[in-house]
Amino acid sequence: MSNIIYNNSSFDVTEGNSVLDTLLKAGIPVPFSCRSGVCQSCLMTLEAGEVPTQALEGLNGEQLAQQLFLSCCCYPQQDLSVRHYDPRANGVTAQVVSKRLLSQSVLELTLDAAIAYQAGQHTNLWRNEKITRCYSIASIPSDPHLRFHITLQPNGQFSQWAWQSLQPGDPLTLQEARGECYYQTDNPSQPLLLAGTGTGLAPLQAITRAALEAGHRGEITLIMGGRNDTDLYFNEPLLQLEREHDNVRCIQLAQRLSSPNANNVRQADIYQYVKEHFSDLNSHVVYLCGADTFVRKMRKQCFFAGVKPRNVYSDTFLPAN
Ligand code: FES
Repeated sequence: MSNIIYNNSSFDVTEGNSVLDTLLKAGIPVPFSCRSGVCQSCLMTLEAGEVPTQALEGLNGEQLAQQLFLSCCCYPQQDLSVRHYDPRANGVTAQVVSKRLLSQSVLELTLDAAIAYQAGQHTNLWRNEKITRCYSIASIPSDPHLRFHITLQPNGQFSQWAWQSLQPGDPLTLQEARGECYYQTDNPSQPLLLAGTGTGLAPLQAITRAALEAGHRGEITLIMGGRNDTDLYFNEPLLQLEREHDNVRCIQLAQRLSSPNANNVRQADIYQYVKEHFSDLNSHVVYLCGADTFVRKMRKQCFFAGVKPRNVYSDTFLPAN
């Protein structure tokens, strides 16, 4: 058992608990979101001791130089002294432009913010110094504003607050954009397959638009899957993309339909559909965004269909209340 000193108080870390687990169990309200090393909302500063390498994965040189580490991935092997880090100190203050519902369960939040990003990257939005959530950016850099698609979780500490309380003109802190899941090919003729679930649509349609803006000529297929047709949204903008670009196909699939041909959604399983229609992915670039189970299973399926590992980009969404 090791011990951590956090902001001058001492805590025992029991077997199988991370620094984050230990502090939360002790009732310390430290910020976190994904608990799996993706969102970086649980960063802390190391004052003394050494953290395991997995607590440093994904951090950039500047963060490492600041002695930052991911508390959710830190299972200490020795005593540590750590302190609270407020990422908002390096954040950007945005202003709410508007909000609207895209479906019963998806909120679109539009912000005015001066941050550099690539279409498909993600960032953290902060409600206050304790509550933050990581969201993919749904806009592309040439759009006038930054947009996000936010799943409205029942009792969601961020999402429900954003829907019920945020008003146009309100300030909101966000961090720099991160992530490798964005349009990056030096071959504009290469076919692209983009597949996702839920609000994985936000980065996928943004990557599609960025590719088109960059002059991509190869076939682009965007496939969204859901359990029910009501899980799918953004039908009209997807139809418009197809109408405006001959090389784009947008396919929406659901295992169950509430009515025949509901909202242009076909009844099919996304894994089965991809297996049948994309049996050879050797020349494709593949983008996968959505639930953890979806991304892992679909990535494996795409490897079996011959996609080259360097041609797969993915972003995993983990549920956070
Ligand atoms: S990276 Fe630790 S909570 Fe997300």
